[in-house]
Amino acid sequence: MPQRTGRFLTLEGIDGAGKSTHVGWLVERLEAQGHAVVATREPGGTPLGEELRRLLLREPMTHDSEALLMFAARREHLDRVIRPALARGEWVLCDRFTDATFAYQGGGHGVPIDRISELEQWIHGDCQPDLTFLFDVPTAVSRARLDRAESEGRALDKFEREAAAFFERVRSVYHARAREHPERFRVIDSTRPVDAVRAELARHVAALAAR
Ligand SMILES: Nc1ncnc2c1ncn2[C@@H]1O[C@H](COP(=O)(O)OP(=O)(O)OP(=O)(O)O)[C@@H](O)[C@H]1O
Ligand SMILES: [Mg+2]
Repeated sequence: MPQRTGRFLTLEGIDGAGKSTHVGWLVERLEAQGHAVVATREPGGTPLGEELRRLLLREPMTHDSEALLMFAARREHLDRVIRPALARGEWVLCDRFTDATFAYQGGGHGVPIDRISELEQWIHGDCQPDLTFLFDVPTAVSRARLDRAESEGRALDKFEREAAAFFERVRSVYHARAREHPERFRVIDSTRPVDAVRAELARHVAALAAR
């Protein structure tokens, strides 16, 4: 495998926490600092991955199938997009990655965490994010944001329509992941105004660039 010289940054959090709100801004900021940046998302990021995304976000399926398809999409994404970009020395910004599978399929849907760990080891045991922003909001805040988006005409996907208890479980697994991997997780209080959140992101990104 080619040597990894880029930086791998993932954005996580429950639906409506604010991940997408900051991706474009982060890209602009990093590019202005002279970095080559690839912004991508999961599930998705490749032609097959985007097809799988459509199925995953719309179609009913067993929870195990959901976890397996997430990792099928991830394998394509890693081999075709993420690893090549890192080998070229680029920054990869990924809107959701494996922490989301632990949180949603594990916490939300009850797929055994050990099974997800096995898949993680198989598919990318050697390639972990350098930094993970966990955009954190109480589930009531995320619900209010999603309801507003829906009232403005955006159709909510299968996960966004889940009940509060589901999001409580997802959030608590995210918190557990952050405690288990403090070296790469930064928990961002995303109830604050966008500018305050961005000031904090800028500090963390500068520290990663200097590593
Ligand atoms: N700090 C903030 N303060 C107030 N509103 C915010 C903040 N961050 C994001 N929002 C709003 O919350 C809504 C959801 O944000 P966004 O789409 O970025 O969330 P997301 O984490 O990407 O959600 P999803 O997982 O569903 O893609 C948007 O309407 C956005 O404008
Ligand atoms: Mg989003």
